[in-house]
Amino acid sequence: MSASIIDGKVISAAVRRKITEDTAAFVAETGITPHLAAVLVGDDPASQVYVRNKERACENCGLKSTLHRLPVDTTQQQLATLVAELNADGTVHGILVQLPLPKHLDSTPILDAILPGKDVDGFHPENVGLMLQGRPRFLPCTPHGVMKMLQHQNIDTAGKHAVVIGRSDIVGKPMAALLVQRGADATVTICHSRTADIAAICSQADILIAAVGIPEFVKGNMIKPGAVVIDVGINRLNDKLVGDVDYAEAVEIASAITPVPGGVGPMTIAMLLQNTLEAARQWSLLGK
Ligand code: GUN
Repeated sequence: MSASIIDGKVISAAVRRKITEDTAAFVAETGITPHLAAVLVGDDPASQVYVRNKERACENCGLKSTLHRLPVDTTQQQLATLVAELNADGTVHGILVQLPLPKHLDSTPILDAILPGKDVDGFHPENVGLMLQGRPRFLPCTPHGVMKMLQHQNIDTAGKHAVVIGRSDIVGKPMAALLVQRGADATVTICHSRTADIAAICSQADILIAAVGIPEFVKGNMIKPGAVVIDVGINRLNDKLVGDVDYAEAVEIASAITPVPGGVGPMTIAMLLQNTLEAARQWSLLGK
């Protein structure tokens, strides 16, 4: 039997409808419009598309967004200066520096410099620590979006074996951290490039989350029959967008699967909007 499709477009539309209502109520109550400042350095085509989608989503939900485009030869100091200006700007509630940065720039000190209260990506070490301790300020958007999708589909994670493929700071590590939190209660394994016999481990997963960045890495023989497969990858292969999962094989074995595109991607954007509204809410409470 073919897997059911977990439709990120439908689920994210429901999340965005709620954010639109909550934003309108917040603006009516406080007179403050939540404002996301996005920073894009260089002209990586994929990053341009992602940032444009984030801006469009903000506007559709009643949030303000401002794009700061910097040339590819921007220096570390120039980027740091822009972040400092955005930190100091009381009308900006959320700051997002689109990754990856050009190779000559070091992202770590830049992300560390964003005020934790404006870090709507949830990448600042303070916010990572709070998430890990189970008292989050901002959850990282992609892992949070995956958790929302699972909840929306009534997929129970408690006691399930969740296998996360990939150990990036943006997806793999925080994904594992959210799945293991009290309330989610999964038993979590993280696989990575040095994992021995990765296929054997993946094929034990009740919930398999692929965030490895290799097109169609997960083949049918790596999937337990009836597993839930979440594909975080977006890769260009022969001019086509494909995930980290071989969809044609997986759809015949899994019980539920996210497509690419139209799966996790739209959820990431919805969670960014939620964090930006939350940042504005927390900012509005500061002087009270
Ligand atoms: N590049 C890929 N994913 C992300 C993300 O979630 N946030 C930022 N800032 N850059 C990214």
